[in-house]
Amino acid sequence: MAWLSRPLTVIGLVILAHGCYSAHEHTVLSSTSVQHPTSPSATSLPLDIYIETIAATLLICLGLVLGSGTPEPIQWHTWAGKIEREGDSTSSDADKELRSNPFNALEARSGFINISKLRNDFVKYQQLGK
Ligand SMILES: *[C@@H]1O[C@H](CO)[C@@H](O)[C@H](O)[C@H]1NC(C)=O
Repeated sequence: MAWLSRPLTVIGLVILAHGCYSAHEHTVLSSTSVQHPTSPSATSLPLDIYIETIAATLLICLGLVLGSGTPEPIQWHTWAGKIEREGDSTSSDADKELRSNPFNALEARSGFINISKLRNDFVKYQQLGK
């Protein structure tokens, strides 16, 4: 379906441009021509321009959605497992080694300091000196 996305988007853009041009033309013509004062529909846009614009917008949206690839997983553990197995496809080879495991930063960080243990060690050290 990816081959269909570009033509759909281009056709949608052309139709949208035509709708915009038609609206512009209608506005220019209705402002310069002599209007019937009692008909309010003379100044409002015709229905077909609305329909054309909405259909063109939907066509562009459909083309863009069809053209986008498969969505990336949005859950952290799914994404991290995929990166660990396959590597990050967006990075270079040198970068891949560093970024192969997304949890490297968490695993390499230093642990918490146990103040209670340090205090006990210091007390033992002081008692040794006496
Ligand atoms: C900190 O050290 C004390 C004494 O060695 C120990 O009892 C305690 O479990 C340690 N706390 C942690 C969070 O490791």
